[in-house]
Amino acid sequence: MVRFKYIFYTIHLILITNLIKSQTICLNNSFITCDCKDNQSSVTCIENSPSNNTFIDWSTLSPSTHPYYKFYFINFTRLTSFTFTKFSLTFLSPEQIDFSFINGIDEIASDIFYPWEYFRNISVRIEFQSPRNFRLADNAFSGMKYQEFLINNTIHHPSYNFNLKAFNQAIVNGINIENSNKI
Ligand SMILES: *[C@@H]1O[C@H](CO)[C@@H](O)[C@H](O)[C@H]1NC(C)=O
Ligand SMILES: *[C@@H]1O[C@H](CO)[C@@H](O)[C@H](O)[C@H]1NC(C)=O
Ligand SMILES: *[C@@H]1O[C@H](CO)[C@@H](O)[C@H](O)[C@H]1NC(C)=O
Ligand SMILES: *[C@@H]1O[C@H](CO)[C@@H](O)[C@H](O)[C@H]1NC(C)=O
Ligand SMILES: *[C@@H]1O[C@H](CO)[C@@H](O)[C@H](O)[C@H]1NC(C)=O
Ligand SMILES: *[C@@H]1O[C@H](CO)[C@@H](O)[C@H](O)[C@H]1NC(C)=O
Repeated sequence: MVRFKYIFYTIHLILITNLIKSQTICLNNSFITCDCKDNQSSVTCIENSPSNNTFIDWSTLSPSTHPYYKFYFINFTRLTSFTFTKFSLTFLSPEQIDFSFINGIDEIASDIFYPWEYFRNISVRIEFQSPRNFRLADNAFSGMKYQEFLINNTIHHPSYNFNLKAFNQAIVNGINIENSNKI
């Protein structure tokens, strides 16, 4: 019995140690907490509480070069042109980036992706899982080239207007809208 207990505790210790090791907070303040994995190729950011603050300075992370990045943004309520400040100084010329915004999203202001020359060079897939109000300003996604643009409204938030002017000067290969009965 005692031996089994020891084995049990040892396994638990190994699991806890691995959990601590895999936690790699790379950006943290009162507004957001980001966890980076595989040398920043997978980044998960959580907005800690609803905030009007949207400024994230990505240059505080060390520069990295991967062909592919995956970003998860959880509970972010607003995106503005400050959300990706100095992003191009850290994530050096990737071929593809996937952005996944999960829950939250009330409002997206103009020109969230800047500089255009940087983002236009990248194959971008962007998805919004269960956005809330999803108010899009004119030019929200301007200047961009999207491989795929997906909205998945599984929680069935109230109907929203899909502002097509958000896509001024943007190229979109595919728009996919799932589970939304009222647009
Ligand atoms: C993140 O920052 C907040 C406020 O600045 C602090 O209270 C919290 O302990 C920090 N969390 C980590 C994991 O460093
Ligand atoms: C954000 O700003 C709007 C308008 O200025 C205000 O109504 C709202 O309460 C603010 N939200 C937070 C979480 O501060
Ligand atoms: C992370 O990537 C950077 C640049 O690509 C490299 O210089 C650094 O050694 C890498 N760090 C680890 C822990 O792999
Ligand atoms: C996101 O917000 C919801 C409701 O506001 C909360 O229940 C959930 O725990 C939050 N998720 C994270 C990862 O903090
Ligand atoms: C665009 O991508 C090419 C090839 O990967 C690279 O040589 C060039 O510097 C990139 N341009 C910008 C503005 O990032
Ligand atoms: C939409 O959300 C549902 C529930 O979270 C999930 O099962 C489904 O795979 C999602 N579809 C896409 C295309 O992301």
